[in-house]
Amino acid sequence: MERRYLVRTFGCQMNEHDSERIAGMLAADGMRPAEGLDDAQVVVFNTCAIRENADDRLYGNLGHLKPLKERRPDLRIVVAGCLAQKDRGEIQRRAPWVDVVVGTHALPGLLDLLRRAEVEGPQMDVREYTEVFPSALPAARGEGWRAWVSIAVGCDNACTFCIVPLVRGPQRSRPIADVLAEVRDLAARGVVEVTLLGQNVNTYGRDLTDPASARRPRFAELLREVDRVEGLRRIRFTSPHPHDFTPDVIDAMAECERVCEHIHFPLQSGSDRILRAMRRSYRRERYLAWLERIRERIPGVAVSTDIIVGFPGETEEDFRDTLDVVERARFDAAYLFRYSPRPGTVAATLPDQVPPEVAQERFERLVALQEAITAERNREQIGREVEVLVEGVGRRGGRAQARTRTNRIVHLDRPLAPGTFARARVTGAGAHHLVGELVEVPVAV
Ligand code: 5AD
Ligand code: SF4
Repeated sequence: MERRYLVRTFGCQMNEHDSERIAGMLAADGMRPAEGLDDAQVVVFNTCAIRENADDRLYGNLGHLKPLKERRPDLRIVVAGCLAQKDRGEIQRRAPWVDVVVGTHALPGLLDLLRRAEVEGPQMDVREYTEVFPSALPAARGEGWRAWVSIAVGCDNACTFCIVPLVRGPQRSRPIADVLAEVRDLAARGVVEVTLLGQNVNTYGRDLTDPASARRPRFAELLREVDRVEGLRRIRFTSPHPHDFTPDVIDAMAECERVCEHIHFPLQSGSDRILRAMRRSYRRERYLAWLERIRERIPGVAVSTDIIVGFPGETEEDFRDTLDVVERARFDAAYLFRYSPRPGTVAATLPDQVPPEVAQERFERLVALQEAITAERNREQIGREVEVLVEGVGRRGGRAQARTRTNRIVHLDRPLAPGTFARARVTGAGAHHLVGELVEVPVAV
């Protein structure tokens, strides 16, 4: 009988892309994707450790699988990813029906672990080093028209709230030639949009030397090279660290036609005192000055951000500093988080943890402010004509959901195939999307 797999992903785009690698390995082993739990012989949870609720969700999900595993002992349950790396033996202690725990560095050995589990019972590999760059693995990508491309894994920063350096290890960049080979291959197969992925994309290359020139490749150079790949129409990347967003990267963004006018520029806090405690190297005025420079150099650029509320020691005054920066920065979009202590990080050991009800109240004030700004930014788009790339059908039939180069979602009045480019006039704006009318419908080829 043909074996089938199901991969469930929690967490960021990096993790989504790892799931494509997991699916790619299972497919290379002759398996096919399952429709759901019932027809799957292998279930993989690819986990995230960045905030607490991720843990709760995993253990909840594993609990649901217990009766299924009792009924079907041949079902193989795999826990992969950042939480596997963090929780290690804890997972099989709390859920002994899990067959394989595979950490972030051990992913290339997944098939071996599964084979060993058949004979020897539960397996775990949470080694601390990466032997093979994960992108050397096959990927089963979901869509034919867009793709993620990993350019680096790991992170050399030490932000005191963040568990990523602990679970993903130090930064390891992928050689520029390998990245370009993958991008060229994707473009030749019809991919029109790539998103370059790394924990800290703009320090790309710091850990490499280019054998041809014996110097380090830089992120700006990589952008320019990717921009030259025939067939691509949109290039995105995530995430940069504000500190490393150097003028050469801004110039490359401004000059490369296919690089989209959107940057994700994580602020984390608007208080200098908290930024210092977070070990973020910039301060509020510097951050705002960088933002101004970016906006001057790249007209129409959209800026999104990440902000944490309730970091240990955050006072009402610190929080007001954050509100103030948010008001001045006028982000187009923001991902807002309540601080969540992560075991093993410096911040988790700090005194003055903010009570949850205080963090919640601040969080709600920040959400209200940012929603008003996002709505205002969206309204500014009304009347403009924009290029959109269709991503899917709208929730209500007869429509399409598309995206602008500036990363805004547009609901279109007519259905179009995903991967199609069109021009639309913005006629309306909601809190999280725009409404658009097609002005030029592409001719079918
Ligand atoms: N608590 C809350 N948010 C966090 N992030 C990272 N670590 C934590 C934490 N411990 C947020 C940061 C980061 C985003 C991916 O997740 O804002 O930029
Ligand atoms: Fe992604 Fe970070 Fe979560 Fe890992 S911990 S999946 S890198 S968000």
